[in-house]
Amino acid sequence: MNHRTPKTAQPPHSTAIIGLQWGDEGKGKAVDRLAADHDVVVRFNGGANAGHSVVVGGTRFALHLIPSGILHQGKLAVIGNGVVVDTEKLLQELEGLEGRGVKTGGLVLSDRAHIVAPYHKMEDSLREELLRASIAGDSSGGAASGGGDIGTTKRGIGPAYAEKIHRSTAVRAGDLLRPEVLREKVSRACMFKNSQLSGMAERVGGATARDFVPFDPEKISRDLLEHGEKLRARIQDTTYLLHDLLSQGKRILFEGANATLLDVDHGTFPFVTSSSTTVHGIGPGTGVSERCLSSVLGVMKAYTTRVGRGPMPTELFDDIGNRIRERGREYGTTTGRPRRVGWLDLVAVKYAAMVNGITGIVLTMLDVLDGIDELRVCTAYEIDGKRTERFVPDGPELIKAKPVYTAFKGFSADLSGVRTLEDLPAGARRYLEFIENYVGVRLALVGVGPGREQTIECGG
Ligand code: GDP
Ligand code: IMO
Ligand code: MG
Repeated sequence: MNHRTPKTAQPPHSTAIIGLQWGDEGKGKAVDRLAADHDVVVRFNGGANAGHSVVVGGTRFALHLIPSGILHQGKLAVIGNGVVVDTEKLLQELEGLEGRGVKTGGLVLSDRAHIVAPYHKMEDSLREELLRASIAGDSSGGAASGGGDIGTTKRGIGPAYAEKIHRSTAVRAGDLLRPEVLREKVSRACMFKNSQLSGMAERVGGATARDFVPFDPEKISRDLLEHGEKLRARIQDTTYLLHDLLSQGKRILFEGANATLLDVDHGTFPFVTSSSTTVHGIGPGTGVSERCLSSVLGVMKAYTTRVGRGPMPTELFDDIGNRIRERGREYGTTTGRPRRVGWLDLVAVKYAAMVNGITGIVLTMLDVLDGIDELRVCTAYEIDGKRTERFVPDGPELIKAKPVYTAFKGFSADLSGVRTLEDLPAGARRYLEFIENYVGVRLALVGVGPGREQTIECGG
């Protein structure tokens, strides 16, 4: 056997950016910051459920399907095969960016990315409605079984991934360029969906049942073919593309969407999303091995937020929670929903750091904690009277967890202009040191505001 290293092999020098909590940690800003040092930015999971806000020169951009790296001119932006793509939303997003002067010529879409069709979005809404109805009158809100609705973004994410697993009815981006194949697949899909969804609509009753109109496969095929024509030049085999770039020594930045505690395997199931949101989603979602990575950066807020349902042990229902929500502008980028806010849960973060094998921490929103007299950090849970420092990635179990806190004296100073660790107030530095020591990973960057430049480089 020949064990020589092939000529094309390059030392690993790519980076992954992964959310360590329940999403909205500031991944978009971190990607925007790091994109300058990379050649390609790649999305590998999720769909238009993601909302990544980036503020450049005072202008705010919200990205859902397009990698945040698009805001750097000359970078390639790739939507990998692991993403589920609502082509209508993608075209709108492209148009919106072009309208604001952002060049989008560098965006490429995998021919194997699965398509979110209109019936997936309707199924998402109907399922949520029926699940909500199923726990009406249940005093625990379905918590015991992890039942009830999930509080999805209703972007059709779960049904589109389910379709992919069903196989024969799933449409991929490459099919949008093959009218015969597309029409057959959409007809088959509509056969299943129309009978399933009309039954669900009937069960919901009222206007939903009255207004239900079966999906017309011809119309859906026509629309998708039109989207395909508009996207033709962008639809490619991105696996070979990425490998070719790697063999030329190019650096890839993988942009995680959603976050570790929403991972379908490692998150707080069933209150999760439907994709692999951790670093381990990169392989299946792009066809590129994790071996190309030299760093895995985990992004975390200085506190915790969550959108949608599911347990969140450190949730705050008081004035401090409201204050953090307002100061941190904690309203969903995708749905506008107010985010649930809580103290920093280090049990959860340490678990997420472990699952992803992170090499550095990007901590965001430190500025938001300014002016709070006492800061609390959850360092253990008490479950059924027993203390544990292990996270519980299971909805019905985690709901029993009571947080055990370590308290800190807060800090009072406007951090938005601070650019070095030394210039931070002592209280803020102590908070950061405690986090580093608890998680056992060094800080790489600390965010003190939404702007690209409002970042402290820590060297970790
Ligand atoms: P993502 O989904 O992980 O990309 O995060 P989102 O963009 O949904 O939410 C993060 C929000 O925090 C956005 O509005 C960002 O502009 C903002 N943001 C990011 N980092 C910081 C920071 O360090 N301080 C403040 N105040 N805002 C930040
Ligand atoms: P970014 O990339 C926050 C949550 C939803 C819901 C659950 C399932 O911006 O961090 P889905 O529509 O995916 O089936 O919803 O997951 N969720 C997110 N919450 N940020 C996200 O993405 C999210 N993506 C999904 O609120 O609770
Ligand atoms: Mg977000």
